[in-house]
Amino acid sequence: MRILMTGGTGLLGNAIGRRIARTNQLLVLSREGKNAMSRVSYPCEMLAWNGQSEISPRWLEGVEGLIHLAGESIGQGRWTPERKQALRDSRLQPLEQIDQALRFHNRQLRVLISASGVGYYGNRGDEELNEESSPGNDFLAQLCVDWEKAALALPSKRSLVLRLGPVLAPDAGFIKEVVGMFKKFGAARLGSGQHFLSWIHIEDVAEIVAQALTNPSYSGPINAVAPEALRNSEWTEKLAAATNTFKIPAGAPAFALKVMFGEMADMMLSSQKVNPTRLQSQKFQFRYPTFDSALKRLFPTEPSPH
Ligand SMILES: NC(=O)c1ccc[n+]([C@@H]2O[C@H](COP(=O)([O-])OP(=O)(O)OC[C@H]3O[C@@H](n4cnc5c(N)ncnc54)[C@H](OP(=O)(O)O)[C@@H]3O)[C@@H](O)[C@H]2O)c1
Repeated sequence: MRILMTGGTGLLGNAIGRRIARTNQLLVLSREGKNAMSRVSYPCEMLAWNGQSEISPRWLEGVEGLIHLAGESIGQGRWTPERKQALRDSRLQPLEQIDQALRFHNRQLRVLISASGVGYYGNRGDEELNEESSPGNDFLAQLCVDWEKAALALPSKRSLVLRLGPVLAPDAGFIKEVVGMFKKFGAARLGSGQHFLSWIHIEDVAEIVAQALTNPSYSGPINAVAPEALRNSEWTEKLAAATNTFKIPAGAPAFALKVMFGEMADMMLSSQKVNPTRLQSQKFQFRYPTFDSALKRLFPTEPSPH
């Protein structure tokens, strides 16, 4: 299938691209155009696009799939009003432009896959969440609601949005941020440490996308999280052991996080116990169903045989 991809140069874009490039033809839209070839690890055609300007009809020729991953990084920088606007615009404007172009040229996609996040659910304590649960009402939840609505409005025979938990990948994204903090300050639970993290390993994300491209029963919102959500105190303990980090018994008080990170601290302290209900009903086989299995892959203790 010929697939248009936004955000193909990023963390998830590379993992997904490597998984699907053998059987699909990928056209990646990047703000850096051809210069972005050095940022991808899979074969593709690279097209220059800033996410806001018109889509060239040539880019749509023969295109049957869209994978939308573009977006300013949510976990970096304080959420000033300007940054919040950039977080929204960088996700919504590309969808609006592609929507307009498809409609203008009377085109319909076969399949659309867009990223979203478990931030959709807001801060929910110990509540068990599935795809039918209501959204939250904070900034991130509203962003996810609007992002999903925009994605599901595009003309496509089948559309799905992946409510991703923080993605565990070697020396990148969530792991890089947290291990960086551990090295600087020691391993500390955040606030009470009682809040749940619903995470997923990057190889499982790539596999979900590969299956969703061809399996017609994947559609609508899908929780892309492993079946084992952990409390902050639990995963902090496990990650500290895997990285041999000194533990700070008192933890990091919530007010200190608020001072350091502003409104973004709400995201660090918010609790989502999300079940991958729809993936499980598809009998999706997680390669990394437990945090321990993911950590073993990320921080191997034995030398690889190769
Ligand atoms: N990684 C996670 O833990 C996680 C968890 C939940 C949800 N998600 C969502 O999944 C998507 C992909 O995540 P990721 O970790 O792969 O992100 P990433 O590594 O930061 O890559 C995102 C890509 O978006 C493009 N981009 C960034 N700012 C942009 C802007 N202002 N306008 C247009 N394009 C812009 C960039 O492509 P160019 O520089 O080539 O233009 C970049 O490669 C994001 O929407 C993210 O919010 C990720």
